[in-house]
Amino acid sequence: MVKVLVTGGAGFIGSHCVDSLLKRGDTVFAIDNFNDFYSKERKEANVRAHLEHECYGLAYGDCADRDFVRQCLDSFKPNKVLHLAARAGVQPSWKDPAEYMRSNVLATTILLDECEKQGIDKFVFASSSSVYGGNTKVPFSEEDRVDNQVSPYATTKRSCELIANTYAQKGMRIAGLRFFTVYGPRNRPDMAIYQFARNISEGKPIKVFGQGDEVRRDWTYVSDIVDGIMASLDNVHKFKCEMFNLGNCRPTPVMELVKLLEDNLGKKAVVERAPLPVGDVLQTYADTSKAKRLLGWEQKTPLEAGVKEFVNWFKTNG
Ligand SMILES: NC(=O)c1ccc[n+]([C@@H]2O[C@H](COP(=O)([O-])OP(=O)(O)OC[C@H]3O[C@@H](n4cnc5c(N)ncnc54)[C@H](O)[C@@H]3O)[C@@H](O)[C@H]2O)c1
Repeated sequence: MVKVLVTGGAGFIGSHCVDSLLKRGDTVFAIDNFNDFYSKERKEANVRAHLEHECYGLAYGDCADRDFVRQCLDSFKPNKVLHLAARAGVQPSWKDPAEYMRSNVLATTILLDECEKQGIDKFVFASSSSVYGGNTKVPFSEEDRVDNQVSPYATTKRSCELIANTYAQKGMRIAGLRFFTVYGPRNRPDMAIYQFARNISEGKPIKVFGQGDEVRRDWTYVSDIVDGIMASLDNVHKFKCEMFNLGNCRPTPVMELVKLLEDNLGKKAVVERAPLPVGDVLQTYADTSKAKRLLGWEQKTPLEAGVKEFVNWFKTNG
C-alpha cells in the first residue's frame, strides 16, 4: 500500500493531487493550517469530498511546528511525502517576508529533517518558476543559473531547493517541481486569472501590467501539473535531488488570456495599464525537456481548453 503525506492538501493544487491519489488507490494523510491568505471556507470546500473517503485523513496544523510534524509522520508512517504547503504569491511576499521565510523555508527544513530522522526518504516538493527571477535567456532550463531572484517569495523557493539538495547527502530521494503559473478549477483567488475573471464579470476594471504584449506567462493547466506531480512521486526513488520545470511551453501575452476570458464569460474587459511592479518578471517560459526525459511527462492542455474549464468552474464557484 502506498501512503502519501500531502502538506497543503486543502489548497488549490494540493486538493487536486489528493483527488488523484485517492482515485488511484493510495492512502492519503493531508496536513494544512487553513491559514487566512484566502478564505478558509474555500479550503474547507476543497477537502469536503476527501473527508468522505476511507483512505483519507486530515490534520490541522503548521508544517513549521516540529512537534506537530513529528507526530503526523510518526503516526501515519508515509512511504512518500508530497510537500505543497507554502505561502504562495509574489507581490504579497513583500508585505510579510518573514512569514514567507517561516512558512516556506523553516517548514521545509523541519519536514526534511523529520523525514530523514524517521527514515522517510522519498520527498517531492513544490518549487516555482519564480526561481528564474531576472533571467533573460528563454526558455528557462534547469541547467540555468538561478541566483537572481527578484521577490522574497522566489528567494524562499530557491532556499527550499538548496536545503533539499543538502538533505540529499543524507540519502533522501528528492524531486523539486518548478510550477509555471498554474490555473484551473479551485484557482487561488489572489491570482491574476481569477481577479480578471471576477472583475470582468462585475464590469470592474482589470489592471494589466506593461504597455504592450511584453508581459507573458506560461500558464499551465492544473491537471497537467497534477500529472507531473504523480509522475514525480512514482519516479522519485531514482533521483538524488532533481529539479524539474512543469510548464506549458507557450509564453502567452496577458491580453491573449484576457481575450479568452472575455470570450468565455461573454463580457468585455475594461483594461487599465500599469507598470510592472518590482518582484514580477517580464516573461516565464518553460523548457520541459528534462521532465519529458526523466518523468515521461508532457503538458497536454492548450490554454484555450483550460480557460474554458476554468470559466465553467468560475461561473458556479467563483
Ligand atoms: N499556483 C501556482 O501558480 C504556483 C506556481 C508555482 C509554485 N506554486 C507552489 O505550489 C504550492 C501549492 O500552491 P497553491 O497555488 O495550491 O497554493 P494554496 O495557497 O492554494 O495552497 C497552499 C496550502 O498550504 C497551506 N499552508 C500554507 N502554509 C502552511 C504551513 N506553514 N503549514 C501548513 N499548511 C500551510 C495553505 O493553507 C493552503 O491550503 C505552493 O508551494 C506554491 O508556492 C504554485
